[in-house]
Amino acid sequence: MSSRYGEVYGRWCSDPEGFWAEAAQAIHWYRQWDEVLDSSRPGFHRWFRGGVLNTCYNTLDRHVLGGRADQIAVIYDSPVTRVRKQITYRELRDEVARFAGVLVRYGVGRGDRVIIYMPMVPETIVAMLACARIGAIHSVVYGGFASNELATRINDAQPKIIVSASCGLEASRVIPYKPLLDGAIDLATAKPEHCIILQRPELEAPLVNGRDMGWAAVMAGSQPVDCVPVEATDPLYILYTSGTTGVPKGVVRDNGGHAVALAWSMKNIYGVDPGEVYWAASDLGWAVGHSYIVYAPLLHGCTTILYEGKPVGTPDPGAFWRVISQNQARVLFTAPTAFRAIKRDDPAGDYVGKYDLSCLRTLFLAGERCDPDTLVWAQERLRVPVIDHWWQTETGWPVGANCVGLGQFPVKPGSCTKPVPGYDVRILDDHGRELPAGQIGNIVIRLPLPPGCLPTLWNNDAGFQASYLSAYPGYYQTSDAGYRDEDGYLWVMSRTDDIINVAGHRLSTGGMEEVLASHPCVAECAVVGVADEIKGEIPIGLVVLRAGVDRAQEVIISELVGLVRERIGPVASFKIAAVVKRLPKTRSGKIVRGTIKRMADGAEYRIPATIDDPLTIEEIGEALAGLGYPRR
Ligand code: COA
Ligand code: AMP
Repeated sequence: MSSRYGEVYGRWCSDPEGFWAEAAQAIHWYRQWDEVLDSSRPGFHRWFRGGVLNTCYNTLDRHVLGGRADQIAVIYDSPVTRVRKQITYRELRDEVARFAGVLVRYGVGRGDRVIIYMPMVPETIVAMLACARIGAIHSVVYGGFASNELATRINDAQPKIIVSASCGLEASRVIPYKPLLDGAIDLATAKPEHCIILQRPELEAPLVNGRDMGWAAVMAGSQPVDCVPVEATDPLYILYTSGTTGVPKGVVRDNGGHAVALAWSMKNIYGVDPGEVYWAASDLGWAVGHSYIVYAPLLHGCTTILYEGKPVGTPDPGAFWRVISQNQARVLFTAPTAFRAIKRDDPAGDYVGKYDLSCLRTLFLAGERCDPDTLVWAQERLRVPVIDHWWQTETGWPVGANCVGLGQFPVKPGSCTKPVPGYDVRILDDHGRELPAGQIGNIVIRLPLPPGCLPTLWNNDAGFQASYLSAYPGYYQTSDAGYRDEDGYLWVMSRTDDIINVAGHRLSTGGMEEVLASHPCVAECAVVGVADEIKGEIPIGLVVLRAGVDRAQEVIISELVGLVRERIGPVASFKIAAVVKRLPKTRSGKIVRGTIKRMADGAEYRIPATIDDPLTIEEIGEALAGLGYPRR
């Protein structure tokens, strides 16, 4: 099939408002919008102003009323608990309506915040949609974050209620969540009125009298409540993501633009029809989980898979193939790191042959740049198109993709193909001048951003402006670097800030440096992301000790590793550090982290002309060699 991409992209360019107004027909509105795009406040564009809808109605009630009541909405597939459960649209709507009743009973109303700190269980989806049902704003916090990270989010979001569980389950261990939650509430200055705790049979948690309530107990007597109409521009959720410091950014998602963009993406990008099974193997705590485990598949009337397991070890590297074939998934969406882990454990792909994967049409990868080797490996084993596509928590849906639903382009491994309709992507030099094809520069998106992208940061318009709008006036700064080739394909190569991607998890090296610097023995430090065969990147730390510290270096290093795990969480995968005498800096005092990274990766590097003392570079080389870098 020849691609309709050019025609559709052209149609969007010539009439963006008409384009999105047409896409908005896929959504049920209680009241039509007054304006498709409100541009009255420069930089702070709002979509479908005046429109009134309810996102939960659009994901559940609409389908129940429209003939999908008995279709499976969610398949919960949990190799770690050996449970597999199917939930129909009607059952999910009823559970959500009852949990919404619980929230209302405990005083949660439109605009109130609810933090959800939960593992990969159906109740997490129920809690998210229950918030949407009553116009409350959810903020899901990834389970791999420690108390301190959770406390930061509690302080910023100021939730009335926190919904959590007694534990999460990793492949080989039970992770008690309740002590982490209690620790976070102790640390936080804002205190929730109540916590609702889902007790899991693997580990029950003690409840705090007067504050905590069991999920089962509150649900027992709950009356269902109906959907509350909200403004299109009202926030649906806040999702915190790493910024360039230890303070996370609260990405806001609105109701109207979000529903329209996600519904549009399912057919046009992913090529999926209502009624089909769609699987995003991600975590509900990340943007992919929000958009493509919960909202988009349900808005589109698909069956979504909620997988509580890993690509390997639960029980073997055939786990993904078992889930696809058993559940008849049409699309798999995951991060390249998952495939690298599978490839490590099953290099020949023998497990693929054990399952009938004829149902699978397309594999989508995102979250980090997909190295061409992994893409080709997946292509050869699965024999379906493997589509690398690029997006960010901030955008909430893909910016660059091979839009399969519009007719696929040839795949170029290493490129995310072309800008998705809705996004005017440009490559600029540091002075804001547009660069020709083939030249690497700053990737920016011309304003306005399309529906579904963040309208601002929670309670922080100034931060939104400073982080995204001020560097290149008229453009959104992605903080990614890359280029466009002669065929118009987009190549996203690296970040321009201190964000690293560890096993598809977005982390700030600046945040880790803040933790290391808080250790009493540390005078200064640098954390850089170095290449890792499985996780893509992992952080390593170099620390300079305070004068007079005479404690054993191994002990200090193990304390530093423990400190990052305790303050940020195990997900940071911070396990490697070395003590150095000094750090290489420019004469203006900037640590040359980029040079350190290139040295560790074994890439070519130049000693910056402005370095204050070239000898420090030699010392760093020796320290890296002591850690086994560059890897051979
Ligand atoms: N709760 C508590 N702990 C968690 C957790 C959670 N929800 N998620 C991860 N952790 C812990 C892990 O147990 C591990 O702890 P350890 O250091 O004691 O072993 C640590 O955090 C790092 O976890 P992870 O990054 O998942 O590494 P891993 O070695 O356990 O698994 C992969 C590696 C590649 C298999 C795994 O990262 C993966 O499946 N990644 C896919 C990523 C993804 O879906 N990204 C979303 C974007 S699409
Ligand atoms: P997150 O907000 O966690 O989704 O991380 C977003 C960042 O991950 C982007 O800014 C990119 O740096 C990186 N990223 C995500 N997908 C891709 C991709 N397909 N190719 C290259 N980089 C990607």
